[in-house]
Amino acid sequence: TIKPLILSGGVGSRLWPHSREAYPKQFLPLLGERTLFQETAGRISGMTEPCFDIRSPLVVCNEQHRFLVAEQLRQMGYEDADILLEPSGRNTAPALTIAALHVRERLGGDCILAVMPADHHIADVEGFRVGMARALEVAGRGLIGTFGIVPDRPETGYGYIRKGRALEDGTVFELEAFVEKPDAETAVHYLSSGEYLWNSGLFVLRVNVWLERIGSHRPDILESCSAAYEKAGADGNFIRVDRTDFLRCPSDSIDYAVMEKLNGTGQAVVIPLDVGWCDLGSWASLSEVKPRDEHGNVVEGDVYARDTRNSLLYADSRFLAAIGVDDLLVVDTADAVLVAHKSKAQDIKQIAEHLKAAN
Ligand code: GDD
Ligand code: MG
Repeated sequence: TIKPLILSGGVGSRLWPHSREAYPKQFLPLLGERTLFQETAGRISGMTEPCFDIRSPLVVCNEQHRFLVAEQLRQMGYEDADILLEPSGRNTAPALTIAALHVRERLGGDCILAVMPADHHIADVEGFRVGMARALEVAGRGLIGTFGIVPDRPETGYGYIRKGRALEDGTVFELEAFVEKPDAETAVHYLSSGEYLWNSGLFVLRVNVWLERIGSHRPDILESCSAAYEKAGADGNFIRVDRTDFLRCPSDSIDYAVMEKLNGTGQAVVIPLDVGWCDLGSWASLSEVKPRDEHGNVVEGDVYARDTRNSLLYADSRFLAAIGVDDLLVVDTADAVLVAHKSKAQDIKQIAEHLKAAN
């Protein structure tokens, strides 16, 4: 059995003011009709080629987003999907651990999890499914499958994977080294070496394999998650882990808690993917995938632009005019306006932090 697992606990603070704590970006239709969360839910659920038994997804999210998640799943026809609720996020390693404990109980420890972040866009879904089918196969043999993207800039917000020798038909490689979020100098070196791929943030693994690895590398995480899951209460499809035990769980990501510890063990593989993958983390990355006009502008709503280039201009609730500006991000909503230089797109999360501290 294969279970798509959607990690959807992030708040998307770099896409403020569209993305808010109460309504994060993954629940918004940023590209097309479906939300990023719905795109993710539909990406492999129901995939039949080559005859995998892929069930409806399992979601781990914050308690406060439960109705958003339930409604968006219902619209997709997945009303039977379980939704695990965290009282407060402890990053991805605990989220995956409670999901693995839940799936072990319901479907058994041999079940394979396709772990997917909720905030990615993938242009070529068919191509992705081909890669996923390979990953499901290797995961069935007890290995951890990752997907590597050819990098085009020295991004410090991603993990890097050094690919080792080719296995079998040359579509799967040994994972020689995994380095999470290197500093800028290291990232430049990785890019120019041509030997590294970006970690896509997707992981494919058997439930028991994850529980064994997290137990050996972070027994503290496994212990508090096990305690929190043992006392979990179900309310329809919502499953609430025990608040006290979960809140005492240390925060850590899958990448730092386990992936970096697997270097040289031969326990993980990487499958290169060329499917138009994109992490829609910031306004800058969103404007990369949106259609642009002849001046490189991404425009939405009632907008007038003159002598303006490479800018993103979003008018939500009123008329927006821009003259003689380049590389700007201007996002208007009913109660807030963002004006930022494109090169500062990563710093937008500080606005959300400021607002949180001020409230
Ligand atoms: N349930 C739950 N709980 N989900 C969470 C939590 C949490 O506490 N924290 C994050 N998530 C979800 C986010 O919503 C997102 O969908 C996914 O887990 C990944 O978390 P990010 O916080 O976006 O991770 P990242 O982008 O910094 O880094 C990861 O992804 C990169 C590619 O996008 C790493 O895996 C990197 O190595 C990778 O390159
Ligand atoms: Mg991310």
